[in-house]
Amino acid sequence: MSQLDLLVLHGPNLNLLGRREPGTYGHVTLAEIDQRLLTMAAQSASTIESFQENSEGSLIDHIHRALGVKHGLLINPGAYTHTSVAIRDAIAAVELPTVEVHLSNIHRREPFRHHSYIAPVAIGQISGFGANSYFLGLQALIDHLRPS
Ligand code: DQA
Repeated sequence: MSQLDLLVLHGPNLNLLGRREPGTYGHVTLAEIDQRLLTMAAQSASTIESFQENSEGSLIDHIHRALGVKHGLLINPGAYTHTSVAIRDAIAAVELPTVEVHLSNIHRREPFRHHSYIAPVAIGQISGFGANSYFLGLQALIDHLRPS
């Protein structure tokens, strides 16, 4: 089984997970999510590099740096999901297989959260399962990259 090198990106305000609107996003912290992703990746002969950025340009820089280096991208673009043509274009440019995840179910929330600029360039979107969205998303990405 060849090793998969994966990039995980967390968008704006996700550094505050655990204390940010816990009724919507739960009590789990970003560090706890990253730790579990690392463990899962290790169990699947994969590596993970994870970054949280509050600015759009920094997220785009990470996506560009993944070109030719990473096999896949797991991303929670946060509010940029609903606004960023630039992040969508970056993912399309590097042609990195991408899974989009959200802790909350964006389709049950305010209408401005229903549209994702990222979804059309992603393999798929997992939304509404709390921290589990990340873990389901990682498994989906690995399964996509290693079809049985
Ligand atoms: C989010 C949903 C977005 O609408 C919101 O702006 C976030 C978090 C989620 O994980 O549920 O910051 O991406």
